[in-house]
Amino acid sequence: METWKRTHACGILRPEHASQTVRLNGWVHRVRDLGGLVFVDLRDRTGLVQVVFDPEVDPDLLERASALRVEYCVAIQGTVRKRRPGAENPKIATGEIEVLATHLQVLNSSKLPPFPLNEENLQVDEMLRLRHRYLDLRRPAMYARLEIRHRLVKFIRDFLSERGFLEVETPILIKSTPEGARDYLVPSRLYPGKFYALPQSPQQLKQLLMVAGVERYFQIARCFRDEDPRADRQPEFTQLDLEMSFVEQEDILNLIEELYTQMIETCTSKRVLKPFPRLTYDGAMERYGCDKPDLRFGLELVNLTDALRTTGFQAFRNVVEAGGIVKAICLTGCADYSRREIDELTEFVKRFGAKGLATIAFTEQGVRSPIAKFLTEEELSAIQNLTQAKSGDLVGIVADHPRVVNESLSRLRHEIGKRLQLADPDLLAFGWVLDFPLLEWDEQEGRWNPSHHPFTSPKLEDIPLLDTDPGKVRAQCYDLVCNGNEVASGSIRIHQRELQDKIFQLLGYPPEEIQERFGHLLEAFEYGAPPHGGIAPGIDRLVMLVCDDENIRNVIAFPKNTAMVDVMFGAPSPVSEEQLRELHIQILDEEEGQEN
Ligand code: AMO
Ligand code: AMP
Repeated sequence: METWKRTHACGILRPEHASQTVRLNGWVHRVRDLGGLVFVDLRDRTGLVQVVFDPEVDPDLLERASALRVEYCVAIQGTVRKRRPGAENPKIATGEIEVLATHLQVLNSSKLPPFPLNEENLQVDEMLRLRHRYLDLRRPAMYARLEIRHRLVKFIRDFLSERGFLEVETPILIKSTPEGARDYLVPSRLYPGKFYALPQSPQQLKQLLMVAGVERYFQIARCFRDEDPRADRQPEFTQLDLEMSFVEQEDILNLIEELYTQMIETCTSKRVLKPFPRLTYDGAMERYGCDKPDLRFGLELVNLTDALRTTGFQAFRNVVEAGGIVKAICLTGCADYSRREIDELTEFVKRFGAKGLATIAFTEQGVRSPIAKFLTEEELSAIQNLTQAKSGDLVGIVADHPRVVNESLSRLRHEIGKRLQLADPDLLAFGWVLDFPLLEWDEQEGRWNPSHHPFTSPKLEDIPLLDTDPGKVRAQCYDLVCNGNEVASGSIRIHQRELQDKIFQLLGYPPEEIQERFGHLLEAFEYGAPPHGGIAPGIDRLVMLVCDDENIRNVIAFPKNTAMVDVMFGAPSPVSEEQLRELHIQILDEEEGQEN
């Protein structure tokens, strides 16, 4: 070979390349040594191609090929030829051809990888994958995730740029911008005892950009939140952060709806609901028991409280008299569930605080139910009418505090949706949830918390309620949900100092703290701040949905594990005494609060 550098990518070779001489670079995906012939599947990021080493071409070459091992990095030169009839492999895009090798150069050998890279659907310990992430990412399924993420982000950048948005970078070393999690702090060498905080989001910065007259801002922004990780959360993650001036809620909803619809239809094989359904927060809680319902299937919750207000069944009656509610879900076609299956569902709802799951099976032979004896004919038929249960259906009922009823039945709804495979896997059912309450009462702390963040504007018509009944004030706030996940959150912001001051006071922040934490923003509002609003969709969650993945770590190149550790780098890690000294930091013994 005159040079090892490639002329073609592996995955693009097709019958029309037959008889061409090509040079390929990549990794040995698989070797099959048939004694007389050696077959190598060569892989680069574009795909696989079969390379044949034939002794008739060069016996010496055959010997060198049989010494190849998986993940060796190689250059191969050869001639493309059509495979003989019957030898095609329809599973790969290059399956109609193969490359008859004439030259081989090993660019680098490889140790045996700690887990196979050439088997799909292999269950590998995630710690091992994360520790050798550079190998894990060589797997075609993982590379595909990086690629779709890139395509989605590029679509977003192009779409917004065409509409006059400016991408502006905002600082990472900043002061606390709260979104309800703990801050990551960075000690300052120059100012002993002082710290920067990493932004939980660029929220205040984007609002200041609106005061600055930018009018249309976006950023693919990294956010940092010291919170306990979950399957759909990471301590650092990426948002499409966006803000606009001189807009109302409707403008933001329309923009995002157009962006998401076009993006999904252009970049993926999924479908979306058009237009996105809209629910109020109250409506979502009533019909689905949660504020991020999976809209791909029905199984809506039905409120039986009024119908059972005077029931003789004490368990329900007591709950209703104490201000609780009774709700039901109709499980289509589940009337034949066995005792054991029903016990299992009961255990399921109990995990979310329910005291039990009362069931009524409607069958050709009549009803089957442990509570039928406590209910009148009228009550039974009211339950059947309200739930629209047909013969063959099983109605499950929970009576309790509204929070428990909604939580347990919404979980049951999602669980049954999964078991009965009611959700169309090709559908991304985006929907808007609107009219959230502005504030939530914190029982433990005895104070109001913002449901979104403290910069969210109340609905103008609800402002008088701030003084009389703050819990009733609705926010100009919107969540985008998809298939049971919250994928974006945003609001119209407060842009006047007096109202912002009032909200901070309602939240119980002391005046010094307001000044210290938010003085810059309040001052900015005094210089003709325009009306503005925005939203921040999570990019990682979007990619998860597009890739049908329930693990957020799979769509991030170098994620932290569930214990917040980067197992490849070994971060967090101790630092030298000298670094600590420079930063004016002493490490205290955790238990005793004493110096180490
Ligand atoms: P919020 O805190 O609701 O709003 O976040 C917006 C979106 O970011 C994603 N997200 C996360 N993704 C992965 N890991 C996490 N730990 C994580 N936390 C949040 C979710 C969520 O819907 N500044 C406001 C937005 C605004 O008002 O414009 C904000 O950050 O998809
Ligand atoms: P009991 O009379 O307590 O044996 O309950 C009779 C049936 O009603 C059982 O199937 C219980 O699981 C169910 N049940 C009792 N309390 C509740 C409740 N608060 N919500 C739903 N089901 C309940």
